Amino acid sequence: MTRRVCIIDTDPGTDDAVALWLALAAPALDVRLVTVAGGNVGLDHTLRNARAIVGLAGRTPPVVAGAEGPLLGAFTPETRVHGADGLAGVALPHGPAAAPGIAADAIRDLLRAEPRVTLVGIGPATNLALALATEPALAGRVEEIVLMTGAWAEGNITPSAEFNAWSDPESLAVLLACGRPVTLATLELTAQALVTPDRLAALRARGGGACLDAALRIMGGVPASRRFGHRGHPLHDPCAVAWLLAPRLFTTRDVHVHVDCGPGAARGRTVVDRWERSGARPNARLLETLDADGFFALLGEFLSTLP
Ligand code: BDR
Ligand code: CA
Repeated sequence: MTRRVCIIDTDPGTDDAVALWLALAAPALDVRLVTVAGGNVGLDHTLRNARAIVGLAGRTPPVVAGAEGPLLGAFTPETRVHGADGLAGVALPHGPAAAPGIAADAIRDLLRAEPRVTLVGIGPATNLALALATEPALAGRVEEIVLMTGAWAEGNITPSAEFNAWSDPESLAVLLACGRPVTLATLELTAQALVTPDRLAALRARGGGACLDAALRIMGGVPASRRFGHRGHPLHDPCAVAWLLAPRLFTTRDVHVHVDCGPGAARGRTVVDRWERSGARPNARLLETLDADGFFALLGEFLSTLP
């Protein structure tokens, strides 16, 4: 099997943790680098969490620290969802030390070394954008960019904007303009991946090691969402990874996406042209529907193989 070389750029983050374990467990993915930004919580926490998540999986991709803030302004943490530590209060054993260097440099180094690299962005897009903006020719080595970001209806951090897009809209705009295929898992898609008590129980029944156990405790620690009548909470970031593993679980549509980078109430809004009204050429593939049962079965299948 040809394994897809990829970089995971992340801000763990409860759902980031599950996404990282899914990617690290998947034989089809060759995760060569994990780059970390602040976002859900500060970089000190997200970096420590990323190291611990990788360590618990017994895998060895370098984990490299990146942006402490977006291109403009500062990150605003989302501790209501992720807790003060970013992992809903679930303590993991310390992971290996961070690799030296800074994320954007590490991303460019890997792009120089490998002809085809998939970028998976599940946090604010700052690290990926810095890498491509500072050496645009390297975009030619990017096979695909898969992002959990944006929304075509309403936001989750403001009425207009989804958290990752809002955290660094300028960086998201850089990625959308880089000329490489971009795939988006937006809030409308991830709303279909609801973590419910029944689904947690089904995952628990599979049995597994420390990673599945930690994933269950982390998902169990995220408050049920008001948006979904407290039935559960959306498992955003693993949807982006699942696209690479099982595209059969999704339906898609090519769209043009414009990111609002203005200072007002719509900052970070992704204006998604699903019906070709703008006349602008598509610049992204939107993941529209998800086979949720298939998605949670995939999670169980892969997470139960980890230590
Ligand atoms: C996104 O924001 C973060 O809180 C999650 O980790 C996910 O990447 C969802 O809006
Ligand atoms: Ca995230």
